[in-house]
Amino acid sequence: MTITRRRTGASILGLFLVVPVFAADPVKLPLGIPEDIYQFVLPKDNPQTPEKIALGKKLFFDTRLSEDNTVSCSTCHGQDKAFVDRFPTSKGIRAQFGKRNAPTILNAMFQETFFLDGRAPTLEAQAVLPILNPVEMGMKDGAAVIGKVAAIPEYASEFQAVFHRAPTYDDLGRALASYERTLVSADSPFDRFMAGDDKALSASERRGWSLFNGKGRCMSCHGFSATQPFFSDNRFHNIGIAAHKADFVDLAIKARKMVETGNLKQIDELAIQTDLSELGRFLVTKNNADIGAFKTSALRNIALTAPYMHDGSLPTLWDVMDHYNDGGVQNPFLDGGMQRLGLTENEIDDLVAFLGSLTSSELKAESDAEMQRQKELARTNRPERDTDAAMGKKGDLGDVAPDPDLKDPALIGTTVFGK
Ligand code: HEC
Ligand code: HEC
Repeated sequence: MTITRRRTGASILGLFLVVPVFAADPVKLPLGIPEDIYQFVLPKDNPQTPEKIALGKKLFFDTRLSEDNTVSCSTCHGQDKAFVDRFPTSKGIRAQFGKRNAPTILNAMFQETFFLDGRAPTLEAQAVLPILNPVEMGMKDGAAVIGKVAAIPEYASEFQAVFHRAPTYDDLGRALASYERTLVSADSPFDRFMAGDDKALSASERRGWSLFNGKGRCMSCHGFSATQPFFSDNRFHNIGIAAHKADFVDLAIKARKMVETGNLKQIDELAIQTDLSELGRFLVTKNNADIGAFKTSALRNIALTAPYMHDGSLPTLWDVMDHYNDGGVQNPFLDGGMQRLGLTENEIDDLVAFLGSLTSSELKAESDAEMQRQKELARTNRPERDTDAAMGKKGDLGDVAPDPDLKDPALIGTTVFGK
């Protein structure tokens, strides 16, 4: 008799629980995501099983998890939209808009913290918050959610089969997190280039990769390496996005008075529903250095997740480049890594082309169309562009970055993978 690794019931001996369940894991890792990194982020206390993943997937798409049965996780993280909603800020029940832009769930599992201010430590802890947020899914509390779920016969039996007990709110978070841990996405032209296919990137994309590491200074926050293949340092920086509209000092004083307990649900509501949202990481740490700081975004599939930044204020990748080229918007908490770049229009085009090469192969058609759409838009409308400032010809704001130090992109690849 052969022993399958699927856990079929509580009667399986404790002994079997130490057998790795990875064999049952349906994820086939794409080029660019090393097996050891994937295994590292799978939590020991919530192992992947096909039944749990299937339950999580069903819950992810189920609008009955919201108060008026109209909104599911997928409303804001749509599978057909690279798991975002394409709104500047997200729309929940009764057409209420929150204050933040929905990030993609693709590869979210690889981050060290969750939400743009890192307020949730795990995907499990993250998943149970939007359901209770009044402008997202609007359920009253965990008990109300579980009352609803347990009354649906198929869920009652599926929770029993997966967790060997009646539905609980934490188990619901576990199932959702397990499904999210299947949303792995890589195998982009960039990954093929790094694996040794020199022709995988165009000349413009290769120049962009050099600029990303050199004159553009992107690497200092969106670092890429064999152990960090998602282009984020997982740290928090004020890059002057919120400074467009927020008086930080005033907001911080207000926030200190309000955030007394540091309770996660309270922070969630302040972040999603109030102007204090702009304080970013400060709401979590109450540390002045974190005022207006947000988590460095991962950049895979970035072509598909417009509009950009935590408030969705930048419609295209060209606007993002204009923002960085000017050194961000000045404010007392601006990250020291932000500096005027002096990038020319051609260099901006190259950097954007490089960002486009980070799209996974299965999303290529959508990505090409979206890059074209953004290009058209940027051709007629570039509100963030301030060439004089970017070139250091305006005011007394310090030097621009040093001249291009264009490295041969092929060599950058060799240092990363030690070829
Ligand atoms: C109304 C729209 C909306 C709904 C519904 C929604 N989300 Fe989100 N999601 C967002 C927004 C906006 C953020 C960013 C909020 C922030 O950072 O403060 C986010 C953040 C996340 C993140 C963190 C990603 C990262 O990069 O840190 C995950 C994971 C996530 N959502 C999963 C879910 C799951 C699971 C559900 C269903 C239980 C869900 N979301 C429901 C809008 C939504
Ligand atoms: C000082 C650190 C830092 C540097 C340098 C930096 N970034 Fe960022 N980047 C961030 C942070 C933090 C965010 C998220 C900010 C927010 O949401 O308000 C971000 C967001 C982005 C986004 C939008 C992501 C999204 O999903 O909305 C893109 C695209 C981006 N950066 C590309 C670049 C490029 C290209 C460069 C180089 C020209 C660069 N960044 C340099 C820290 C940095």
